Amino acid sequence: MKKIIPIIIGIILIITIIVKKNTKNDIKEINEFENIPLYKKELQKEYELFKKNTNFENKKIVLYVNIGLNKPFYEGTHPSKYLNTNYILVNKYNYLTKNYIQKNLVILDEYSIPGLRLNKEAYESFKKMSRDAQKNGLNLRIISAYRSFEYQENLYNKYLKYDNKEIVDTYSARAGYSEHQTGLTIDIDNKRQDYNKFHLTEEFTWMQSNAYKYGFILRYPKDKEFITGYKYESWHYRYVGYLIANYIHEHDITFEEYYYTFIDK
Ligand code: DAL
Ligand code: ZN
Repeated sequence: MKKIIPIIIGIILIITIIVKKNTKNDIKEINEFENIPLYKKELQKEYELFKKNTNFENKKIVLYVNIGLNKPFYEGTHPSKYLNTNYILVNKYNYLTKNYIQKNLVILDEYSIPGLRLNKEAYESFKKMSRDAQKNGLNLRIISAYRSFEYQENLYNKYLKYDNKEIVDTYSARAGYSEHQTGLTIDIDNKRQDYNKFHLTEEFTWMQSNAYKYGFILRYPKDKEFITGYKYESWHYRYVGYLIANYIHEHDITFEEYYYTFIDK
């Protein structure tokens, strides 16, 4: 009997050590991000670091890091994927090369200032939208559409003569990083007021409730600067097609959020 007691104590000690060891391993292995649907293993460290520096919930942390927002704009850039599709993303992390030109550009002959080009499907849809707006006594006119790499380079450099780089970056894209180079983007006015005041027009109000029906989204909305990288632009619209535009309109999200949730995941 006396011999059994130390054996029992020994067994209890061994069991306690094994249980403790396993519990420790379990704690080490709990990963608060890995069950989030958009989780990417290779970004684990970046999720952890971003969490330390922000107050976003884990779901947002995963999405925002996937977008690239844990890095300053223009850092960690890569060439845009899905060239010549309606869901191509060009922003401050995804760029087009100097020689990228959309395959389906057409010359704009109505509802536009002269000499512009745009993707055919986007233009056809814009014309429908303008006609319908006109039925309500409203004017939608394209004042800027496809821009080549060189055009954007000159434009950006022109702005640099008036504002410093930090300011210019809030309203103008650097060459290769402008969505206008996709041929799917337009700036519009109502023919009467300066495009900068488009948000004050009836045409803008109409666009707010109708643009998505024709596949267009307001690309740089108010209060989304931290995602898009640009100040609010009430005149700048991007053609993405009806299904995407409808979803973005319904959920009030940016194209970046849509793209990293459904396209590049
Ligand atoms: N104004 C927009 C951001 C552009 O330059 O493409
Ligand atoms: Zn624009």
